[in-house]
Amino acid sequence: MKIEVASSAGFCFGVNRAVDAVYRLLEEGKKAATLGPIIHNPQIVSDLKERGVCVVERPEDTPPGAVLVIRSHGVPKSVTDRVAGLGLSCVDATCPFVKKLHDLARCAGEEGRTFLLFGDSGHPEVQGIIGHCVGEHYVIKDALELQNLLENNSLLANKPLTVAAQTTFNAQEWENTLKTLKKVCTNAVVFATICNATAKRQKEAKALAERSDAMLVIGGRNSSNTAKLRDICAQYCPTYLVEGADELPAFEAGTRIGITAGASTPASIIKEVLVTMAEVNNNELNFEEMLEESLK
Ligand code: F3S
Repeated sequence: MKIEVASSAGFCFGVNRAVDAVYRLLEEGKKAATLGPIIHNPQIVSDLKERGVCVVERPEDTPPGAVLVIRSHGVPKSVTDRVAGLGLSCVDATCPFVKKLHDLARCAGEEGRTFLLFGDSGHPEVQGIIGHCVGEHYVIKDALELQNLLENNSLLANKPLTVAAQTTFNAQEWENTLKTLKKVCTNAVVFATICNATAKRQKEAKALAERSDAMLVIGGRNSSNTAKLRDICAQYCPTYLVEGADELPAFEAGTRIGITAGASTPASIIKEVLVTMAEVNNNELNFEEMLEESLK
């Protein structure tokens, strides 16, 4: 078995910052609650639960005396307004790259521009961004949907447009949508908002999948960036999404396995997977070295 770990596998800056914020509150002896799971990772969520951190769906449900942490996905403005109205103590760990999208959404409306956001309308990050719009706006999932929108709304092509993408939007799909957009829309200002961490991770995953016999993508099943990595890799070789070492499939001897992990996968889980793989491979894998490489 030959294993190669993508150099950008695992936690991104924004997720790291949000998870750190919760652990810091606990270190300071404070009670904490998170608005939704802080991260799409069941192990971290259950570790926090054991330490008394509860996950609430609405600011109103925050236990008395707890500091409410807003996760890296961010929230609509109406939610921060409610937090303030309730007088809750709050740490806003919205990723600064997502905050930039909140500003773009708001400014577009204030300047009379239509805001086009490419992304998944059901994703909390997108719902958060849209919750900062103050004017006409659309969420579009791909080039085909853009084409349909432009055909059904002939005035849109000539309107002043502010165009951006969800931070985890597929980089290739973004290129496709921009090609369609630039052919038709004469007055669009386009912002490159796909997060570098995502673009880098997706590019490396693709390159690794191309030279591997099989790919392992480690991450939560409800993490959209992990799912995107799986979809990209699956175009090039059989790909397995696992949440942890207990879900590892059996690989034939001699298989070249590439490993990547979503932005919300902690180093400890990647390590656990590598240790287990080393064990089934008679400890012939230098997982410490691989892990260090991947987390540089
Ligand atoms: Fe932020 Fe990029 Fe992570 S937008 S949350 S650093 S994937």
